[in-house]
Amino acid sequence: MSTQALPSEPGPARRTVVAAVGGVGLAAALAACGDSDSSDSAKTSGDGGTGGAAGSGAGAAGGGVLAKTADIPQGGGKVFADQGVVVTQPTAGTFKAFSATCTHQGCMVKDVADGTINCPCHGSKYDPATGSVTAGPAPRPLPAKTIKVEGDSIKLA
Ligand code: FES
Repeated sequence: MSTQALPSEPGPARRTVVAAVGGVGLAAALAACGDSDSSDSAKTSGDGGTGGAAGSGAGAAGGGVLAKTADIPQGGGKVFADQGVVVTQPTAGTFKAFSATCTHQGCMVKDVADGTINCPCHGSKYDPATGSVTAGPAPRPLPAKTIKVEGDSIKLA
């Protein structure tokens, strides 16, 4: 039993011999072995490189742009429910962003209309320029969110 196992396993020994002798056939076997080793390591480093590049690309594309400036009506705004953000343009070229979660009981504000950000649940209204409460039961202003305007893109910072 053990005598059969031994001849089939002398990997290191065979490798040493091949290195010393440089036999073509055995060298090929060694090269094959070496190939699989090196492709493994190449694969690992390749994955790392690709992953890093893809990650930074996705971050730039996915994390960033919330809206185009043209999407935000001047004197009004737009609710981005997925991001929980309401973006307003109180005066031309000035963009503001606030949490879209009503400070009363946590409903998502519905829209920006008639000069206010409006919560549908109990009628709270907020100032689109400052987020402060202008009407309704809301106890606090909408917290501001930080955005960046780059060209015609509005990005969540
Ligand atoms: Fe917005 Fe009540 S949750 S007014």
